[in-house]
Amino acid sequence: MRIGLIGLGGMGKVVVSSLMGNKSISACEVIGAIVAPEHLSQTRDENQFDLPVLDDLQALLALKPDVVAECAGHSAVLQYGEQILRAGIDLLVISIGVLADEQVYERLHAAAIDGKATMFLPAGAVGGIDALSAARLAGLNSVTYKARKPAMAWSGTAAEEKLNLAELEDAECFYKGSAREAALLYPKNSNVAATVALAGLGFDNTSVELIADPEATENIHEIEVDAVSGSFRISLSGRPLIDSPKTSALAAYSVAKCLIDMDSAIII
Ligand SMILES: NC(=O)c1ccc[n+]([C@@H]2O[C@H](COP(=O)([O-])OP(=O)(O)OC[C@H]3O[C@@H](n4cnc5c(N)ncnc54)[C@H](O)[C@@H]3O)[C@@H](O)[C@H]2O)c1
Repeated sequence: MRIGLIGLGGMGKVVVSSLMGNKSISACEVIGAIVAPEHLSQTRDENQFDLPVLDDLQALLALKPDVVAECAGHSAVLQYGEQILRAGIDLLVISIGVLADEQVYERLHAAAIDGKATMFLPAGAVGGIDALSAARLAGLNSVTYKARKPAMAWSGTAAEEKLNLAELEDAECFYKGSAREAALLYPKNSNVAATVALAGLGFDNTSVELIADPEATENIHEIEVDAVSGSFRISLSGRPLIDSPKTSALAAYSVAKCLIDMDSAIII
């Protein structure tokens, strides 16, 4: 399977390494990557893979990918998503928070239908998405997602208007509300809330709590589900990527795993 990438930063590099390092289980081939124009020359200079690095979608599509995997950010989904799907090429999106905007979701959905293509949304930094989306078929009563991060991990966000992050002594929940509002107010931290929402009760009926915790050293994701089929609660503590500390390592491997699945005879 021929894979085009959007983004060759911390996540993109782990995806390429994982696919190249698992040739025994996957014949996936990364055929090229586009990066932001301001990163083009540095990424080409540092390119450790035998891979064309481009800054133009048409040049990537000319390499005939079967699927394009976005590992870049919300702006890249907005810039390229529709064109890729309308060209009949499957699209993997990891910057899932962008779908909290209803119009963006509808535009991409329509493009996928028109192009007879599929948009894949990997679980990213969390687990339990398989159980949540299966339980949805039985009927969901409530879904709550709690994001507990080190206090300073919320710097540069609207949390700074509510808390003095540098001097916080105890854990504080600074936001409680819907997944849609959380994703729109805290876009840099919206991907997991959006994933939980899309797998379960939707953006407006999924409850989100955002917590700044001076004692936390890792990002802790908790999902509590009450469903007709039973209830479950998961807690996952994520370590960051060395090359990109704001990104959870698991999210990068979930992209690689989703790509390997697309090319596999047996999927688990
Ligand atoms: N779903 C999840 O759980 C989850 C978790 C962590 C990160 N993410 C997403 O993964 C994204 C990538 O993370 P990262 O650590 O690799 O970031 P990074 O900053 O290390 O790398 C981003 C890469 O994307 C490229 N890029 C950015 N905007 C672009 C554009 N408009 N067009 C083309 N290329 C563009 C950059 O040039 C760079 O190569 C994040 O922005 C985030 O949205 C999702």
